[in-house]
Amino acid sequence: MTRPKVVIDTDPGVDDAVAILLALASPEIDVIGISVVAGNVPLGDALGNACRIVGLSGRSDIPVRAGAAGPLVRDQVFGKYRAIGIFGDDIVAPATMAVDTEHAVQFLVRQARLAAASGELLTICAIGPLTNVALALVQDADVARGIGHIVCMGGAFAALGHRTPWAEFNFYADPHAAEIVFRSDIPMILMSLDVTCQALFTAEHVDCMRSRGGKAGAAIAGLLTRFDRSDLARYGRAGAPLHDAMTVAWLVEPSLFQMRPAVVGVEVGGYTAGHSYADFHGQTGRAAKVMLATGVAEAGFRDLVIDRMARYGKRSAGGGG
Ligand code: BDR
Ligand code: CA
Repeated sequence: MTRPKVVIDTDPGVDDAVAILLALASPEIDVIGISVVAGNVPLGDALGNACRIVGLSGRSDIPVRAGAAGPLVRDQVFGKYRAIGIFGDDIVAPATMAVDTEHAVQFLVRQARLAAASGELLTICAIGPLTNVALALVQDADVARGIGHIVCMGGAFAALGHRTPWAEFNFYADPHAAEIVFRSDIPMILMSLDVTCQALFTAEHVDCMRSRGGKAGAAIAGLLTRFDRSDLARYGRAGAPLHDAMTVAWLVEPSLFQMRPAVVGVEVGGYTAGHSYADFHGQTGRAAKVMLATGVAEAGFRDLVIDRMARYGKRSAGGGG
């Protein structure tokens, strides 16, 4: 079977960093580029962080490109951990690779057109605000034909929002972009807070990444312990989720997840902008083209992340960096 060609659209972000490292340690998928969007942190910091993480993985051949510096319509908001800014030199070494000069949206458009022509459809792993993806879709109606599916982290349904009581961050940061993407005909796989908050990483799991993951594991452990990400009141137990890593886990090991078809929409205006809804019963009269993850095998997901991180440790031990 051919490996799916994947573009990671991202706003690193610590859980984005884990997702990128997980993807680059997974031979099941072929990551052909990283497109960066402002979100957790301003675009410049997100770009710098993406380059640092790609450098850390030893895959400086993967191009990193700059996309949108802000949302389509709403005022810009940053993530809860914006203060992390550019990852500290003491945690992740400064990047030696340069940002590619092609704009990220242009890259998405070009790759989607190529994919449409070849029939080998593109997968987009969208783990930040959906601004870049929406901009690519509105540039040219043909772009959608080249995208096989979008695996996206965003939204909150039965779970409460975390950026506001009603919204998850990626959809809150650019609800108009999210609505454009969900209104397209592209099949989507959606990892919302409902499922990402089902798998928590405790201090013990983070220590495991530190001890087994070489330089990459140590860097991720350093990033994960920079801020206290736990929330006992919300999760009812110790630990914190790694939201974005679930999108990559689905690409690598989909059997870890329970999925349910739904129509998904995002509220764009007013006080509750960014709120997402799921229609499981055909009430909207629209076709259900989103597969919404409703459950995850927690231990299996954690093992996957930790084992793939350990591959970086084995490479370091073998002198591979
Ligand atoms: C999402 O928002 C960001 O803070 C994370 O990187 C993740 O993509 C979780 O709501
Ligand atoms: Ca993210």
